[in-house]
Amino acid sequence: MTDTLFKWDDSFLIGIEELDLEHKLLIDDINRLHKELTGHDEKSEIEECLGDIYARMQAHFALEEHVMKEHGYKFFDEHKREHEELLGSFTECMVQFLNDTGVSSGDHIEGCLKDWVIEHIVTSDKKMSLMLQEKESFKTKLRKWI
Ligand code: FEO
Repeated sequence: MTDTLFKWDDSFLIGIEELDLEHKLLIDDINRLHKELTGHDEKSEIEECLGDIYARMQAHFALEEHVMKEHGYKFFDEHKREHEELLGSFTECMVQFLNDTGVSSGDHIEGCLKDWVIEHIVTSDKKMSLMLQEKESFKTKLRKWI
């Protein structure tokens, strides 16, 4: 078993610098969690890591939703619902882990996070990014962010 669950590569890029940076930081956090789970580190360290991931996901989704709303993204409701489902399933995994430190719950958490990275970033986030980048209002705003 390796220390890294996800090796960052450019296929994860969606083309919006701020959001790409946050995705990369999240993947770093997920890899840190994987290392702690496989290294059977202290439960308190794993809990701290889970809390960091949750907080980062929440902040990231809030920023992304703000960007989508501001530019009238057509599939805002659908995308926001996915965020809510992802946070909900991650919360369930965390609760399960806190009640049982067995390997299976660690696997469950990683499975849940894998769904997010693979399914959500490379499909829904990319779709959103492509549609927003076609909008003039977005291009102007993007220049102010970076
Ligand atoms: Fe980057 Fe929609 O989460």
